[in-house]
Amino acid sequence: MERTFAIIKPNALADGNAGKIISRIYEEGFTIVGLKKLYLSKIEAEGFYHVHRERPFFDELTDFMASGPCIVMVLQADNAITRWRELMGATDPAEAAEGTLRREFGKSVGVNATHGSDAPETAAFEIGYFFSGLELL
Ligand code: CMP
Repeated sequence: MERTFAIIKPNALADGNAGKIISRIYEEGFTIVGLKKLYLSKIEAEGFYHVHRERPFFDELTDFMASGPCIVMVLQADNAITRWRELMGATDPAEAAEGTLRREFGKSVGVNATHGSDAPETAAFEIGYFFSGLELL
């Protein structure tokens, strides 16, 4: 079993789509071992996305992530990192395959409904950024 870190981003909550996304997560066979709703500050968003701090979209990305509440989760399954990335689809919703979450609920490359860790080391950092071991059931 592997764990990955996932976010339902502010646009998906604002549009009332969080429940549909969580249903898909269960339908696809993941266990949600941690979940909380948070309203990130700009500084917390910058810390989370620090690997992108030199990118031209960093300010836009962190403004968006601090624009409203989001849901952060730890998902568990065999091959969870790859499977969650497949379920999300491509970063840009316009390029994401039919049936993926970003295709269905994303609006643009920045406002793309969901986030997922891209590697085991990233998942370890991202899970630890939001959850203590005691919160993962
Ligand atoms: P996410 O999986 O959360 O990881 C980093 C995020 O940066 C990514 O999803 C996108 O939402 C965002 N991103 C990537 N490229 C761009 C871009 N060109 N313009 C705005 N945001 C971007």
